[in-house]
Amino acid sequence: MKTGYNIAIDGPAGAGKSTIAKKIAKKMNFIYVDTGAMYRAMALYLLRKGIDPADADRIAEVCQEADISIEYQNGEQVVLLNGENVNAYIRTEEIGSMASCSSAVPAVREKLVELQRRLAAKADVVMDGRDIGTVVLPDADVKVYLTAGSATRAKRRYLELLEKGEKPDLAQIEQKIIDRDYQDMHREHSPLRQAEDAVLVDSSDMTIDEVVERISSLCR
Ligand code: DC
Repeated sequence: MKTGYNIAIDGPAGAGKSTIAKKIAKKMNFIYVDTGAMYRAMALYLLRKGIDPADADRIAEVCQEADISIEYQNGEQVVLLNGENVNAYIRTEEIGSMASCSSAVPAVREKLVELQRRLAAKADVVMDGRDIGTVVLPDADVKVYLTAGSATRAKRRYLELLEKGEKPDLAQIEQKIIDRDYQDMHREHSPLRQAEDAVLVDSSDMTIDEVVERISSLCR
């Protein structure tokens, strides 16, 4: 049933997946699908309902009430939660941490994986996440596992926050990255791992353009 050309990019938090995937999508005139944003929108719904991140049974129940969809406005992905554009609310540390917990619940994954597969079936997409090459699109045309050392990822995040005028703590950021990696890699369902047929790209010592060029060359 697959008709679109699919590029799958997986990797840990802060590896630069969304920056790279957006650039590749633009270059190749593909649609960029940010699956983390879908898990974040679900996390927002659960937090608004006051659900405990550790209560998997309640998460499985309450996630059924959340309708998540995406649309594109001026080329940007907009995530809709029961019809509301929630892009402005999902980029916080609190939401990221809830998303990491709630994404471990199979009922949440089933719902969102189905949406992701439907999107990839009808268009040429660059999709990023944790399980795209392993579970969502096992037949993707190109699979990349994009990573970087935790110190490098922490430093990038630190500089981003400095630029925003905040006073970040580098050691604390790195610890949070290590904790999130552990949680995403050790969950029972669809843990983060490199697919056997994925190409490993370590961006620790590469510029953004070099990574884009490397992935583009895999597509050629
Ligand atoms: O990429 P991100 O930081 O926006 O993702 C937030 C969380 O969502 C991440 O910690 C794990 C989860 N996630 C997932 O389980 N599967 C995906 N395909 C994408 C994200």
